[in-house]
Amino acid sequence: AKESFIRKTGDPLRVWAHRGGSSAAPENTAASDEVARRARAEWIENDVQPTKDGVPVILHDTSVDRTTDGTGAIRNLTLAEVATMDAGSWFAPAFTGQRVPTLGQQLDGLKARGGNLLLEVKGVHTRDSVARIVTDIRSRNMSSRVFVQSFEPQHLRWMRELAPELPLGLLRSTLDPDPVAIAKDLELSAYNPSDAAFQTRPGIAAELHAAGVAINVWTVDDATRWNALEKAGVDGIITNRPAELYGWNAAF
Ligand code: G3P
Ligand code: CA
Repeated sequence: AKESFIRKTGDPLRVWAHRGGSSAAPENTAASDEVARRARAEWIENDVQPTKDGVPVILHDTSVDRTTDGTGAIRNLTLAEVATMDAGSWFAPAFTGQRVPTLGQQLDGLKARGGNLLLEVKGVHTRDSVARIVTDIRSRNMSSRVFVQSFEPQHLRWMRELAPELPLGLLRSTLDPDPVAIAKDLELSAYNPSDAAFQTRPGIAAELHAAGVAINVWTVDDATRWNALEKAGVDGIITNRPAELYGWNAAF
């Protein structure tokens, strides 16, 4: 059976570092990884999209405009073009020289330095682009250290078909009428709603647990909500403040 991501009684909340340690360094870069690592974050969340030439790279927006010194949609840019862009100076001058990592580089870094990857299959994908992600993971023997999530059920269906060993999570900004049914259909390990969506129906945590499905809530940065979510029985928090959440967990 696949590993359960349901929190045991007395265990702390699982910490998922959103886009790395993205409150202190440019998101989705080696620098934000380093911040998350210093916070001892076991899981780093990154977004993955294909370049024009089909290479999976770590980028949140559909364009490079906000987080690099380049311009254009990622689907119209080759890896060679993206690789020359600066992905750090937009955040602060000290981060000049950061790059948009490829998924392969990201996995190599995690393998060398420790840590696991919550990988969001973001934006536009095909079965082939999902297959390329699987190849990058499997060629490094990293399947046991990757958790895949997406807002798009089709991405998860492809992933389930191509890599049945990987745990899957469905992201939601509003709750489905029947989250348990969709979790069973997609064979999810976790259902991951926004905090606003969660608050429309906090009982969903118990409903999912009864079906063997974990629940992780995003993107939550304040201790008042960590406290409420811990009491509501959620399993993990996707946060921009991993160091502070670990500290809160330790003091809890
Ligand atoms: O992990 C949840 C969160 O990453 C989903 O929203 O826009 O930050 O990718 P976004
Ligand atoms: Ca994301």
